[in-house]
Amino acid sequence: MSNEKTLNKTFVVTIDGPAASGKSSVSRELAKRLQFAWVSTGAFYRGLALVALKKEIDFDNVQGLEALCHDPDWHIELKTERTCVYFQNQDVTDQINHEDVGSFASRISHHQNVRAALLQKQRDCALGNKGLVAEGRDCGTVVFPEAQVKVYLTADSEFRAQRRALEQGADVRDVEMAQKIRDLQDSSRKAAPLQVPPNSLVIDTTHITLNQVVDQVQAHVSNLLKTL
Ligand code: DC
Repeated sequence: MSNEKTLNKTFVVTIDGPAASGKSSVSRELAKRLQFAWVSTGAFYRGLALVALKKEIDFDNVQGLEALCHDPDWHIELKTERTCVYFQNQDVTDQINHEDVGSFASRISHHQNVRAALLQKQRDCALGNKGLVAEGRDCGTVVFPEAQVKVYLTADSEFRAQRRALEQGADVRDVEMAQKIRDLQDSSRKAAPLQVPPNSLVIDTTHITLNQVVDQVQAHVSNLLKTL
């Protein structure tokens, strides 16, 4: 992929979609293949949610949450295959993946002021990298509207619940119920709702393997790089 060396700004690929649509696995593998940096923007919301829970800041305390976005007690670090959350210098990334932290993250992500406070930190992930794969809910619409490639992943809701339940060793019905609520919250909120970005490559991941999805996206990126 020699063409990308000639690009003078970061080549950004965004991957958006609902919970457990395969965004993390696909975007992480894609970043590895392209040798791009990788960021899960959900980690910013999950990190904030976890720290808010630890500091007992309620989900509707917008001022408190906004201030917490800038609190030096926590920060995000990009690692090759992990978007890490640090709280008081401890790596707490393992704690952000519980569905209750995801639900709390979904609730606080409704607040426009909170989103605005986290936006620049997410955009800064592109700095100093030849390429970045960013996954989340609004990466192609709000965080990186100028991204060169935008992908939207979707999948059958029962299938998504099974995938996540297997990962977490949780009950599939409980996971499906929590996901339905979260999907509804994420797509119906006023601020940056989950939506298909214009001009995006839409892939239904229900009946194909994640590797096949990565192959499709990689082919799309390669074709584009050839035209640059
Ligand atoms: O992708 P995830 O499951 O880690 O995201 C957790 C929550 O964070 C999600 O339900 C909504 C919020 N989120 C968001 O509002 N915008 C993003 N770009 C990423 C996540």
